[in-house]
Amino acid sequence: MSAKTQFNLQQFLATRTKTVNAALDKFLPSDKTRPVTIHKAMRYSLFAGGKRMRPALCLAAAAACGGREADALPLACAVECIHTYSLIHDDLPAMDNDDFRRGKPTNHKVFGDGIAVLAGDALLTQAFEIAAQSRGWPRYTHRDLILEIAKASGSLQLVAGQVADLEGEGRKLSVDELRYIHERKTSALLCCSVRLGGMSANCTAAQLKALTDFGYHVGLAFQVIDDILDVTQTSEQLGKTAGKDTQAQKATYPAIVGLEKSRQIAEQLTAKAFAALKIFKGKAVALEALAEFLLKRDK
Ligand code: IPE
Ligand code: IPE
Ligand code: MG
Ligand code: MG
Ligand code: MG
Repeated sequence: MSAKTQFNLQQFLATRTKTVNAALDKFLPSDKTRPVTIHKAMRYSLFAGGKRMRPALCLAAAAACGGREADALPLACAVECIHTYSLIHDDLPAMDNDDFRRGKPTNHKVFGDGIAVLAGDALLTQAFEIAAQSRGWPRYTHRDLILEIAKASGSLQLVAGQVADLEGEGRKLSVDELRYIHERKTSALLCCSVRLGGMSANCTAAQLKALTDFGYHVGLAFQVIDDILDVTQTSEQLGKTAGKDTQAQKATYPAIVGLEKSRQIAEQLTAKAFAALKIFKGKAVALEALAEFLLKRDK
């Protein structure tokens, strides 16, 4: 697999990150708004310097379907709020108990557990307030868009994955059980981000199916790589404490199938994601570049 185009991904990511950050800044209450603590806490994690991969996937999917970026933007911001909430809660002592995130002390380390729980709650709710400001389309009503986010985030998907992840600690899971976790805790929201981008461009049913296939496989690959990086990278590189999965006896791909096999699986999943983009006949350049970048990423 290699970049088949001259597409400038670094430029795409830099410009889109700027656009998304500016939009998020407008959507969120200022840090002077009462109660000041909660708005400071929400903004602290949201603007700590995440890679913004979910918004980028959402905007890239919209572009592949010929949509306008402005129509996808609220949805891109909504998924980033959901993602950030999930990280704040994931890091809590009651969950993964992590002290660093996005190169800074975790939300609860700065604001305390109570405010961190509430900052997560508020970002989750904020996501729906932002998504409500998007528009409906002939093929996808406003209700369809909101349902899409609710389903990906709820107790059958993201939350289900987090539950199974916690319950899997210290147990030797089968590859199928591990896949169940990764599909839900990570792939669901990435897939949702891609689908929302397509929906915001009033994409055809065939395009939505292709985007779903792409998002599912890229999303799974994303968590396999996250597991690999936990073993192979330093904390400085990752901006979060490396080696935590082994320490917490987490069910991960390297733990269950080994590093080499994990790399092969990530490559196979990315190849499947690539294959799903065929129907776009070269118009999904940003998505292609993102899939390749996500496979090769080192943080
Ligand atoms: C980390 O996600 C959590 C997972 C689902 C693996 P990212 O690697 O996208 O984290 P940020 O947003 O860049 O901090
Ligand atoms: C996080 O998975 C998934 C969600 C937050 C939904 P991880 O626990 O592996 O993420 P990191 O490694 O802490 O970023
Ligand atoms: Mg976790
Ligand atoms: Mg974690
Ligand atoms: Mg991890």
